[in-house]
Amino acid sequence: MARQESVAPGGTALLGDRRVARIGFGAMQLADHHGRTYDKQVATAILRRAVERGVTNIDTAQFYGAGVVNDLIRSALSPYREDLVLATKVGAVYDEAARLLAAQQPRQLREQVEDNLAALNTSTLGVVNLRRADMPPGITAEGDQIVDLDDQLAELISLRDEGKIAGIGLSHVSVDQLRRALPAGIVCVQNMHNMLDRTSEPVLDLCRTQAIAWVPYFPLGSAFEGIPKVTDHPAVREAAIALGATPAQIGLAWELAHYPGTLLIPGTSNPDHLDENLAAGNVVLPPELLETLENL
Ligand SMILES: NC(=O)c1ccc[n+]([C@@H]2O[C@H](COP(=O)([O-])OP(=O)(O)OC[C@H]3O[C@@H](n4cnc5c(N)ncnc54)[C@H](OP(=O)(O)O)[C@@H]3O)[C@@H](O)[C@H]2O)c1
Repeated sequence: MARQESVAPGGTALLGDRRVARIGFGAMQLADHHGRTYDKQVATAILRRAVERGVTNIDTAQFYGAGVVNDLIRSALSPYREDLVLATKVGAVYDEAARLLAAQQPRQLREQVEDNLAALNTSTLGVVNLRRADMPPGITAEGDQIVDLDDQLAELISLRDEGKIAGIGLSHVSVDQLRRALPAGIVCVQNMHNMLDRTSEPVLDLCRTQAIAWVPYFPLGSAFEGIPKVTDHPAVREAAIALGATPAQIGLAWELAHYPGTLLIPGTSNPDHLDENLAAGNVVLPPELLETLENL
């Protein structure tokens, strides 16, 4: 697939040993959770446009749209460009009653890796993020789903040794968990983080000291009700007007400025929003504004 622009959106940074564009794409918005509502034509156009515009990091999961999202990625983009990293996550599955359940046991993690490989039609997954389920939001593990982190990492290391995974990432983890996992060779951490929710800042600090890529999920505050939206904040809206940008671009530009190792994966099902998000790397936040946004 030809690139329309040679410049990587947002510049580049390392994801393990791969250099990727700092603005990537989060595929979760391409279908509803049960995979019943989606527009294949629009989703295909968005995925292809993202790659044509220089996106080299796409975040997905077999459980997005109950399998639909991985099918959309495969049909839109396979065979894949060599510079494209497909990052997926394991730790949850949909059951037959369309309920998202924790699936944290090592055997289940292996099954999910195999499911992702088959659905995406690839022999190696660029990154597999272990999505822990110790705390809300989202799925929380109970009973035999409360699994020791070391046992999970041992399975992922085996899968990496077998060549099925290139890099191991962590998602929804604490500082202690990240510290414990460091010997496994963690390439990225994917935690909830945005200008208005800085709960994970200590985890990000550990990523800084270890030069680990930081992949904030919900960088704009998500599509879910009840989570503050970055684009609604008066200071963000004011900054957007002042800089001739959009509020979403201010939110994403702030994440890029916050840590050079940040890799963005904003999610959208709207082609215009995709264009806006990819252009967020062109928005330069003056120092005084950066300080204001830091302290919101
Ligand atoms: N590891 C985890 O546990 C985890 C959890 C959740 C998500 N993720 C990953 O993180 C990615 C990002 O999270 P997310 O998609 O939930 O949240 P997000 O990127 O914070 O926000 C998505 C929401 O923002 C809207 N939006 C996107 N671009 C916009 C723009 N330029 N202007 C205005 N609104 C805009 C989208 O609506 P439109 O569709 O209308 O643009 C959607 O409602 C996901 O796609 C997924 O890959 C990981």
